[in-house]
Amino acid sequence: MPGTVIVGAQWGDEGKGKIVDLLAQNSDIVCRYQGGPNAGHTIVVGSETYKIRALPSGIVRGKPCVIGNGCVVDPEVLIAELDEFEIRGCSTEQVYVSGNAHLIMPWHLAIDQASERRLGKLAIGTTKRGIGPCYADKAMRLGIRVQDILDPKILRQKIEVALAEKNLWLTRVYESEPFDLEAVAAQYEGYAQRLRPYVADTSLYVETALRDGKDVLFEGAQATLLDLDHGTYPFVTSSNPVAAQAAVGLGIGPQRIDRVLGVSKAYVTRVGEGPFPSEIEGDEQARMRELGGEYGTVTGRERRCGWLDLVALRYAVRVNGIDELALTKLDVLSHFTELPVCVRYRTPDGRETPDFPAHQSDFHAAAPVFETLSGWNEPLDACSSVDDLPAAARDYVDFVERELGVGVSLVGTGAERTSVLSR
Ligand code: IMP
Repeated sequence: MPGTVIVGAQWGDEGKGKIVDLLAQNSDIVCRYQGGPNAGHTIVVGSETYKIRALPSGIVRGKPCVIGNGCVVDPEVLIAELDEFEIRGCSTEQVYVSGNAHLIMPWHLAIDQASERRLGKLAIGTTKRGIGPCYADKAMRLGIRVQDILDPKILRQKIEVALAEKNLWLTRVYESEPFDLEAVAAQYEGYAQRLRPYVADTSLYVETALRDGKDVLFEGAQATLLDLDHGTYPFVTSSNPVAAQAAVGLGIGPQRIDRVLGVSKAYVTRVGEGPFPSEIEGDEQARMRELGGEYGTVTGRERRCGWLDLVALRYAVRVNGIDELALTKLDVLSHFTELPVCVRYRTPDGRETPDFPAHQSDFHAAAPVFETLSGWNEPLDACSSVDDLPAAARDYVDFVERELGVGVSLVGTGAERTSVLSR
């Protein structure tokens, strides 16, 4: 399949990086189409652990990697990552960054932090990487794009125009320190010198590759329920992780997407604020967090943990057009005797629905209706395919398939690159 989207089907951290890493073996190019350094993908190869924030996960396999126009780029983070991969012996020669992607500027970080502070109890719980303010400036047409680094004069001028407004905001609205034009211009000119060779017409590059029959992976960051349009607004990120965005965020036609692979944990986690119907109550949640190592890659924050939510997953199948699923971290469930799975929501009027509520108040008030499946209480290390799984684990996977009407083609059973079982 030439064009494959890999999309998070929950609230992020589903283990997309590992699935991309696996599929990248047989792919020619790996592309990111949205998000920025709010993402954190972890890939474990033997004794080496790679934590990636800006680059597509395909970099670990030495594949050509594209950062599409739909992404936002923090040059400091990207440069640090490029340097690190070079030091570790992975070439970055085939990294291509769209000139139309937007640059995260220092005021985006400052505003993200100040606005979360101001919101107090109503805070979104962002990663504070400047993502929201950067996308807001893109929509306001006040953004600075990657292609602006190609010309020092243009870059300085754009910084000057943006700062004239941003410094007013920072000082008068947020009572924060203003930024100095010369200092920012010099800092970004330094970044520009390092990044210029990577700037490319990525739309042309990806479209040409697809036309030539190459296999291209479109790697989503964040996930469906964090989508600006389809997620649990306002507790979302400021871009569109859903599969269709792969076309817009890379500058290719929608018919170039041949397959959509959703990635879901065998349970659910969420960082940041917002409603979470299947959240586990009591000590079991802390147990799940420890067993699953559920702490944020980027921020180190504790992730909230819940039982698998098939109502939310059914919704993800719908809004992404998911063709097949990868179910990750099934091994974490090996430690539980009983496995509740949320199959419907009960709304305050007593109705039960298998469908994700369209209205925020219904979602906020939704109570989970669980069906309890049996655990298997044995490690999955020795399994080499889905058919090898203990009977109860296979039943768990079959149950998910039946409820969603979508096949589970991959099952994750550990942190290692090799711990992904296929059918
Ligand atoms: P932002 O993307 O930093 O603006 O954060 C908005 C929301 O998205 C917050 O709830 C974050 O915790 C969440 N978020 C952003 N990136 C990720 C991610 O990679 N994994 C999980 N949650 C994320």
